[in-house]
Amino acid sequence: MPATDDFTVTPYAVEGDIDYDRLLDEFGAESLTTEQKAQFPQPVHQLIRRDVFYAGRDVDAFLAAANEGKTHSIVTGRGPSGPIHIGHIIPFYFAKYLQDQTGCLVYIPLSDDEKYLLKDKSLDEIHGHTRENLLDILAVGFDPERTRIVVDTADADVVYPLAAAFAKEVTQSTVDATYGDPENIGLSFYPAVQAAHLLLPQLVEGRHPTLVPIAVDQDPHVRVCRDIAAKQRYDVSKPGALLSKFLPALEGPGKMSSSGDAASIRLSDDRETVFEKIRNHAYSGGRRSVESHREHGGDPEVDVPYQFLYYFFEKSDERVERLAREYRDGSLLSGELKEIAAASIADFLEAHQNRREELGPVADELKQYRLRESERQAARKQAGYPSTRVF
Ligand code: TYM
Repeated sequence: MPATDDFTVTPYAVEGDIDYDRLLDEFGAESLTTEQKAQFPQPVHQLIRRDVFYAGRDVDAFLAAANEGKTHSIVTGRGPSGPIHIGHIIPFYFAKYLQDQTGCLVYIPLSDDEKYLLKDKSLDEIHGHTRENLLDILAVGFDPERTRIVVDTADADVVYPLAAAFAKEVTQSTVDATYGDPENIGLSFYPAVQAAHLLLPQLVEGRHPTLVPIAVDQDPHVRVCRDIAAKQRYDVSKPGALLSKFLPALEGPGKMSSSGDAASIRLSDDRETVFEKIRNHAYSGGRRSVESHREHGGDPEVDVPYQFLYYFFEKSDERVERLAREYRDGSLLSGELKEIAAASIADFLEAHQNRREELGPVADELKQYRLRESERQAARKQAGYPSTRVF
């Protein structure tokens, strides 16, 4: 349900000034503890160190399996409704980092069906975004041996039977209470599809801990899936979640979203565009005049270029703390901070774009990441269907 009177967080609407701690009470998730953070691979990633990924569910089981060298997996996905922006890609780079550190399996679903049902876009447009988004996800550089990418309509032989099985476990009133009244029956059904995504690694590989790194908007899907798993009709444990705050929109507080060109920095933006967007559109926590800024200092907490560096784009804690200090004491100007953030983001995007350019045609690249026939059979069998296709 929309969380409170003054803000709303669901997969389909994020509005208002989000109180991330209150959201945890509403959702029933828990802040990450110091002990849990210490169980992540060392040195702990800045997204965890700085509480961007700030909360979770059943994180311990995943960390224990990772530290004991047992099977453990991550599921993190994308709804291909448009070009990917620098907020969307954060869970993927985090998943890639964890895969490098712990050897975890990574499952990446693309919910083209969801975005067709949700947006006023043709199937053709959604397919176009799916292809483009896939190239960006492939450019992150996942290990093909340990990564599977599933597109709902292209892998319907697996996704649909599982979703149908799980849909039977979810009532319409649960859907209404969790998401608000869905706009069409497709969106009423879709939570069962995302549940299929989240349980897929266990259906393929056997019961094991799965972690789902996502921003808080996707947590309702995790809750519905956990309820399905709790019924114990299938040999799966409840997937855990690692929940992040939203990278802010350029214009200030609120989630970076893909609607409106100026609101987001896209993975395809070149250097010049990144600098232009940050210089002209990024909300500043600086003072109106240089004199006033030098005298009173700025506020990094609300400064979007600073927040970009803090969230993801500046790895060094020492540097990010120094920038905050200098901004507060007025020695670092808003324009200077903007240049620093723009340069970091542009460097990151250039490296990403170079990897993307080296890829071949999307269908060829995708082949090595698709579910093998034996894996498809295993998943169907675990969900109660004949493992081979009868028809
Ligand atoms: P989508 O495509 O809306 O978003 C992709 C991922 O990006 C996160 N996200 C953000 N993270 C940080 N800052 C932001 N401003 C920001 N905006 C979005 C989202 O939380 C998400 O993790 N239904 C999903 C796709 C999906 C999926 C899954 C995700 C399908 N199956 C299984 C996770 C696990 C969606 O529409 O995400």
